[in-house]
Amino acid sequence: MSSLHIDRHEKRWITISMVLLAAFAVLIGVAGFALGVQVPTLEQKVDPAKLDQDPKWSNPGVREIVPGKKYEVYIIAQTWQFTPREIVVPAGAKVTFYVTSRDIQHGFKVLNTDLNVQVIPGYVGKLSYTFDQPGEYKFICTEYCGLGHAAMFGMIKVVPPEEFGQ
Ligand code: CUA
Repeated sequence: MSSLHIDRHEKRWITISMVLLAAFAVLIGVAGFALGVQVPTLEQKVDPAKLDQDPKWSNPGVREIVPGKKYEVYIIAQTWQFTPREIVVPAGAKVTFYVTSRDIQHGFKVLNTDLNVQVIPGYVGKLSYTFDQPGEYKFICTEYCGLGHAAMFGMIKVVPPEEFGQ
């Protein structure tokens, strides 16, 4: 009778692999639940040819859900601009971005934040963020989309809550 022989070096590396897998699983949990790292989601579908007829998209921009606390921002990307190009939100409020494309694939990244999503025609990217500090946050297209790619950017102005809406 002989049991399955596993070389002791191989046994050691099997153990190390198992430990690494367990460590990665724990780290994903920590990133997702403790640190709040979010994976951007493409959660809705939308017809890119009918954005102007869609009440959600025909007038993109900032929508106040709960004054001072909760806002939604609709942004349309197209070659080579974002609509709107500038938005204003109050500091300290939870802002949920909905981003889609009217034509080809673009990107949406807000500098100095973890907001970053591919913008794919037909789909809506959804991201949330709370800007704690007033200031200017530039957003840019991160997918090469042709000649005007480098000029495709916009600005989020985060103002102190008492100045918002004035
Ligand atoms: Cu749009 Cu690059």
